[in-house]
Amino acid sequence: MVRRSTMLVVVVSTLAVLAGSALSLPKGIKGPLPFNATGFLQWNPAKLQAHLASAAAAQNLSVDHHKLTCFRMQYIIGERMHLALRSDSTLAPGLIRLYFNDCFPNGCDASIFLTWPNTPECLYEPNKYILTGSAWDLIESLRKSVHAECGATVSCADILVVAAREAVKFVGGTINFPMPLGRPDGLAPATNLEVSTIPSARTEQASIMLAKFASRGFDHPAELVLFLGAHSIGRAHCESFKDRADRQTDDFSRKLFWHCQNDRSWLQPLDYITPDRLDTNYYANVLAGEGVLTSDMALGNDPRTRSWMEFYMNNPDNFADDFSILMGRLFTVRGGARRGEIRKYGCFKTNAAGPGAGIPGVVSSSDQEGAAASA
Ligand code: HEM
Repeated sequence: MVRRSTMLVVVVSTLAVLAGSALSLPKGIKGPLPFNATGFLQWNPAKLQAHLASAAAAQNLSVDHHKLTCFRMQYIIGERMHLALRSDSTLAPGLIRLYFNDCFPNGCDASIFLTWPNTPECLYEPNKYILTGSAWDLIESLRKSVHAECGATVSCADILVVAAREAVKFVGGTINFPMPLGRPDGLAPATNLEVSTIPSARTEQASIMLAKFASRGFDHPAELVLFLGAHSIGRAHCESFKDRADRQTDDFSRKLFWHCQNDRSWLQPLDYITPDRLDTNYYANVLAGEGVLTSDMALGNDPRTRSWMEFYMNNPDNFADDFSILMGRLFTVRGGARRGEIRKYGCFKTNAAGPGAGIPGVVSSSDQEGAAASA
């Protein structure tokens, strides 16, 4: 899909080059549009489409994948999601975080739901609190609805990405992205090493985050900044920003400290201006020194990422376009050489676990807290 404002940037950039004038792009960025290390012009819709199409083909994915076997699948999910999102505002951020945290370490394979056969992925530190909220349960109820109509033809991985896209659309207005489907469910949780590619919220250096994102194929500072724009929705537990609050180095951190001291179960909006709207206010907050997580603040302190935060803060249309592209591109993250399946008995266990009891189902939040603390 060729988006209007992206087209505009390309056209304006080309004209600027022809005229020999410089565009007002962030400091330190050479050329009319940002290139990544491989020279791929990331914001050129035609090249991007070609890149996504070849990535989808290489992974046997297609937007029409379920057309013959479950043609109503997107409709079933869309309809149920719409009702659910309207009744529970925590669902959208919960699903978007689940989508990213599942896909980033080893590809979108719903491995984040597995509690078997080795350590549940959700117990590792970057996934802390991912169990809280009802997003987790919603995925299983979507699976039941889809499988009731079509049989076990759609993976939990596909259900998660379609649900996450509905969540993004719900909170993001014009933000939307095509999603090639047909990915199998993983057979085992991602390892601690794989999950550790997601940076810790205590990361103080943007360079550490830049390196981790580059390791998963997102090697431009603008991509890191765009991804983190997702922190314009949702809430964080005190434990997630304790390090920042305890430092009490500025008025905002003192406020965070005060909230948590008064109420340990306090949930801090990641963007206190518009906490339920996916927009660019997160950037404005961080640039004003009011980012909640230490990692958010680190992006504001490094010139490579700060300049992109300023760019997107001042250009919300570009944010909407580029964020859409990037959310769609998450599916290109490749996993290890795992075989896959379509989970028949629930999103929380592999088929080898069988239909009966005996294999733990969902890990409880208190299990998660204990294990994450020691991870
Ligand atoms: C440097 C990378 C990142 C770090 C360190 C990080 C860390 C965190 C932490 C600690 C929380 C709060 C958890 C809690 O206390 O409940 C959180 C929430 C959230 N994160 Fe991230 N995150 C990162 C990247 C991303 C990305 C790329 C996305 C999506 C594209 C994302 C989406 C979200 C959302 C939507 C929430 C709110 C969840 C809710 O309210 O249930 N994060 N993140």
